Amino acid sequence: MKTVIIVAILAAACGSGSSKPTTPVANPDPVPMVEPAPPKDDPTATAPPIEPEPAKPDPAKVKAELLAAETSAYEKAKPVFEANCARCHTKSGKTSTQKKRDHFDMTTYPFGGHHAMELGKQIRKSVGIDGSKPTMPYDKKGSVKGDDLALIATWADAFDKAHAGGAHDGHGGGHGDHKH
Ligand code: HEC
Repeated sequence: MKTVIIVAILAAACGSGSSKPTTPVANPDPVPMVEPAPPKDDPTATAPPIEPEPAKPDPAKVKAELLAAETSAYEKAKPVFEANCARCHTKSGKTSTQKKRDHFDMTTYPFGGHHAMELGKQIRKSVGIDGSKPTMPYDKKGSVKGDDLALIATWADAFDKAHAGGAHDGHGGGHGDHKH
């Protein structure tokens, strides 16, 4: 008889009708500061997480940034070009000729020339940045050095990067594989 009563009490305790919680709560703090996480099947907890849109690089923006980097590198290298190259490679240069400008015309920017879009490489080569024996400035070969040379190198890299990134689309010339 005793056993039956105990079973009946246990059954009642475990039943859903009981208003008193019978299972001890693991939290020892009588006033929990944080609400326990709702159970998985709580309908209010099933709202799908808002996935952030993956940031797609905007091609126009990428090109604009490449051009901006090139322009800023050009602005820094400009005094070096002016001091060392302008006399032969700008229209108003003292010893400038059309022939010299056909190779490299720095009268306006972007630079002109038969192979304007290859000028990054050509200029690197002409002043010896790529390890070549410098051929420019024509009258003072190899005279551009140190920081000045570094500024030209930085410009040439930015120019080539912008070109490779399609930021020069629309500029003609220089896409053939001509050799000088
Ligand atoms: C005293 C005149 C003079 C100066 C200064 C000068 N150049 Fe030239 N440049 C020339 C001539 C002449 C040519 C044509 C060379 C040839 O046909 O072999 C040329 C050609 C070039 C070419 C075409 C590729 C080549 O090597 O033939 C590039 C690039 C070039 N110059 C870059 C420069 C740069 C960069 C500077 C300044 C650091 C510079 N030049 C300064 C006279 C000059």
